[in-house]
Amino acid sequence: MVRFEAVGLRYPGGGPNTGSWGPEALVDVTFALPQGSFTWLLGPSGAGKSSVLRLMHLALRPTRGEVEVLGLRTASARRADLAPVRRRIGVVFQDFRLLPYLSAFDNVALPLRLAGRPEAALRADVAEMLRWVGLAGRAEALPPELSGGEQQRIAIARAVVHRPALLVADEPTGNLDNHQARRLLALLREMNRLGTTVVVATHDEDLVARFPAPSLLLHDGRLHDVDGARGVDAADGDDPAGHPGAWPEAPQAEDPPPPAADLQPDPQPHPAEFPEPPRHANRPPPYIVRPPDPRRGPPPRG
Ligand SMILES: Nc1ncnc2c1ncn2[C@@H]1O[C@H](COP(=O)(O)OP(=O)(O)OP(=O)(O)O)[C@@H](O)[C@H]1O
Ligand SMILES: [Mg+2]
Repeated sequence: MVRFEAVGLRYPGGGPNTGSWGPEALVDVTFALPQGSFTWLLGPSGAGKSSVLRLMHLALRPTRGEVEVLGLRTASARRADLAPVRRRIGVVFQDFRLLPYLSAFDNVALPLRLAGRPEAALRADVAEMLRWVGLAGRAEALPPELSGGEQQRIAIARAVVHRPALLVADEPTGNLDNHQARRLLALLREMNRLGTTVVVATHDEDLVARFPAPSLLLHDGRLHDVDGARGVDAADGDDPAGHPGAWPEAPQAEDPPPPAADLQPDPQPHPAEFPEPPRHANRPPPYIVRPPDPRRGPPPRG
């Protein structure tokens, strides 16, 4: 379901367009997470947790080695292969990445709208999700009007509302109080119980102690200690929910792998990965469809 094989990752270094590369942020990272597993991703700041998660949600391609996610092998994947897999992944970003010009409701609804869910059908799910994270009363608020913890809860709601096959959460409790953090953990456990594979990067030792689960521990880009998460052969037929026939056979790649950032500008946006709006632009990007809502009054801002 998620497999890393001798993965190395370098970021571009020396400034834009210099063509040079920084040191390896990830070095020989190998592990496999079975479908339906729950895994903590641990390690000090700068260890590479977010980098591992970026590879998992297909924002980056490794500079060496193989990353396989939901049946997709990224080394041989074509750009067009990425979008359908990304739509099955929920992402809670460390920096939230909410769209500031959309209401809390519309931010959470976005993955469902991108998946083509009819408006009437998605309203109840979004409302339920907002209730779950304790923000039913703030559905019409814009992200800048919300506290950090409230924004984080909206980001979590958005990541799980479409019941992804894989959920990756980067420090999802960083802005939450203890009570909210435990609520969030209950939500993640419930998602996991229902079949979602969950990977959570965290510094929150309390949270980890409350829910012992296999963990991956990173130090300086290397996997140092693996508690129960390695050695699972997830490479074959591990994804009954997937579409094994949908991906082309791997071409025999002669070319060196593309730059790590190569996967980023995807014309088909990831439901949970939103481009920043251009500065001074008030309009949402064209893929956001906002049907008229008779229940909604005039917009909160002019
Ligand atoms: N976009 C980037 N460009 C260049 N280097 C980067 C980039 N993102 C991360 N790095 C480097 O990669 C290494 C791992 O960073 P990463 O963000 O994955 O760490 P982390 O474990 O998530 O840290 P934290 O707990 O602070 O979030 C660091 O040395 C960092 O400086
Ligand atoms: Mg990080």
